[in-house]
Amino acid sequence: MSTPIIVGNWKMNGLSADSADRVKQITADLAAQPVSGVEIVVCPPFTQLALVATALKGSPVALGAQDCHKDAKGAHTGDIAACMLKDVGTTHVILGHSERRRDHGEVDETVREKTVSAIAAGLTPIVCIGETEDQRQEGQTEDTLGWQIKGSLPDGFDGIVAYEPVWAIGTGLAATSEDIQSTVAFIRAELVRQFGDAGKSLRILYGGSVDATNAASILAIPDVAGALVGGASLKPDAFLSIVRAVP
Ligand code: G3H
Repeated sequence: MSTPIIVGNWKMNGLSADSADRVKQITADLAAQPVSGVEIVVCPPFTQLALVATALKGSPVALGAQDCHKDAKGAHTGDIAACMLKDVGTTHVILGHSERRRDHGEVDETVREKTVSAIAAGLTPIVCIGETEDQRQEGQTEDTLGWQIKGSLPDGFDGIVAYEPVWAIGTGLAATSEDIQSTVAFIRAELVRQFGDAGKSLRILYGGSVDATNAASILAIPDVAGALVGGASLKPDAFLSIVRAVP
């Protein structure tokens, strides 16, 4: 059984002082009331990675980023390479989030190339997949996820898959436990089909309106190895409640 992991995706929120304050509250709480058997990762905006890395030193919380470029260097104005993330103490990187697919036109091939680059740099990629509301209504959830898995995960994939139904992100409407369970079972079967035995141990997270009130039931779903948390990760109390809800 792999270790559960709770990942906070801060998205494009807050300035340095906000992040410093948030990390201070999280690390102080964990120092006073340690948790075990769960990995914790926070993913601030790029500009705050270095300061958060410093603030997290000596704590059980790891540092993640929200994206990286597919190349290790070169003429890519405004982009950040995976090795640069590693250089500031990052251990994880979220890739293929639906907001990047939506805002930056990222397609499965883009995500696959970034994933290769992240793994080469020694980072753990957290690759997001998920259907839109239209795809769900049209009964295309499994087709969509199947294509995303096939297209976004490279051969020898060594990382984490986050199932995030797009319609559940930031809406307060998390998927039902039944839907999460059956969809995660489908994702598991696809991972085993694509990667054989290695696909059996890849961790699958759920993301989409996870909060302090629904975390325990979501994290108790068989084969859900943790959560990718957006809005609730900005509130230390809520985030820590989710961390402590890991069974
Ligand atoms: O990366 C996190 C997800 O997009 C979930 O966001 O918890 O605000 O729904 P949310």
